[in-house]
Amino acid sequence: MEKFVINGGRKLKGSVKVDSAKNAVLPMIAAAVLTEEETVIKNCPPIGDVVKMTEILRSCGAKTAFCDGNLIINARDISINSVSEKLCGSLRTSVLMLGALAGRTGGAAVYRPGGCNIGKRPVDIHLYALKTLGSSVYDESDRIICCGKPSGGDVYLDFPSVGATENALLASVTAKGVSRIFNPAKEPEIEDFVGFLNAMGAKVYGAGSSCIRVEGVKRLHGAEYTPIGDRIEAGTYLIASAITGGEIAVEGVNAENISSLTGKLCDNSCQISVGNGIIYQKSIRERKAFDTETGPYPSFPTDLQAQITSLAAVSEGTSVIRENVFETRFGHVSELVKMGADIAVDGRTETVRGVKKLYGAVVSAKDLRCGAAMVIAGLAAEGQTIVLGAHHVERGYYGMHKKLAELGADIRGV
Ligand code: EPZ
Repeated sequence: MEKFVINGGRKLKGSVKVDSAKNAVLPMIAAAVLTEEETVIKNCPPIGDVVKMTEILRSCGAKTAFCDGNLIINARDISINSVSEKLCGSLRTSVLMLGALAGRTGGAAVYRPGGCNIGKRPVDIHLYALKTLGSSVYDESDRIICCGKPSGGDVYLDFPSVGATENALLASVTAKGVSRIFNPAKEPEIEDFVGFLNAMGAKVYGAGSSCIRVEGVKRLHGAEYTPIGDRIEAGTYLIASAITGGEIAVEGVNAENISSLTGKLCDNSCQISVGNGIIYQKSIRERKAFDTETGPYPSFPTDLQAQITSLAAVSEGTSVIRENVFETRFGHVSELVKMGADIAVDGRTETVRGVKKLYGAVVSAKDLRCGAAMVIAGLAAEGQTIVLGAHHVERGYYGMHKKLAELGADIRGV
């Protein structure tokens, strides 16, 4: 998809079901390398990043296939434990192949990972974790090499990095000894990833707490697993409804996982209720400014910061939004200003002065969540908005424009 064409002004109405969480599915695909048996990840959306991870696994000798909405992986014939520069450069999660391949084959070589341009995104914490777990790690200018099967150990993460927590888990589940990961990420996707590993026969305890304990096992077996719903996809649609003054129901996600967002939407303009696992949102008054700041879970998620900035842009008063996770996650600001928003960025803080309305324009999806923010702004803007770079959005959302059209939006993909 090249671009989205949106004619703004329609209130969203109806119900939408989210897919499995992208950021839970991606580490699960890496973990499939740890067993010679077949694994099945159910309700797996064939979004860009998921397809890329299957290409990485196939390049190492695994077989993968999408069948009836499920992803089937068979990594019996892993014969290569290195990943090409092109594939590594295509997404952040390629770095997880270090822990996965080292755990399976005793060695791994990858190139620096790609991913959204939202900050420096070093991998120092990943490499510290792998070293501490017993591998020898060689960090060359562009390549990273891991030698030796991890033997286990105590890992103290300086920052609760999601990816580094996942790499440490991948390296420790089949290590000889016991491992402990202190200050791990607590995101729901981490707990779900641990659920998948334990379904494969791993012995991982304490996910969601300040210390995860792993008792290494000799081997892992296959598993069939249904990941949790995507809380960021759900949050994106809730914000889209709020900015249009709409009323929607969102199915397939645990409301507790996005309580930081639903609280803000209530401050802004909405009534939110939950029943039978469905989140009901209704716009009940004029949008009002709000403050928030992102942080590791359970703080407000950085992956919804761009989207809620679009909402703040047309909320009466001044909103202050601070981005504490990625130092340059502000690509959406210049694009929103093109549509008439009044936003100033100082360091990591956005000051958003609400304007009466935004106006349609040609804008760019500079990264995945920037793209989502531009679609949201286009839904509320007067006139037509064209969002270029729609492929960025398709890396993380399956059929976003179709789901929004079913909710009444005037949007098409070209
Ligand atoms: C994961 O990225 C997610 N991606 C991101 O979602 C999400 O924004 C992020 O976690 C935070 O929740 C996937 O799960 C595929 P981090 P990750 O390691 O693992 C610094 C999206 O839009 N850091 O928790 O890369 C890093 O620079 C994507 O779906 C180091 O300094 O995030 C950043 O400032 C975007 N050294 C902070 O920690 C390291 O070794 C958080 O990074 C690792 C990270």
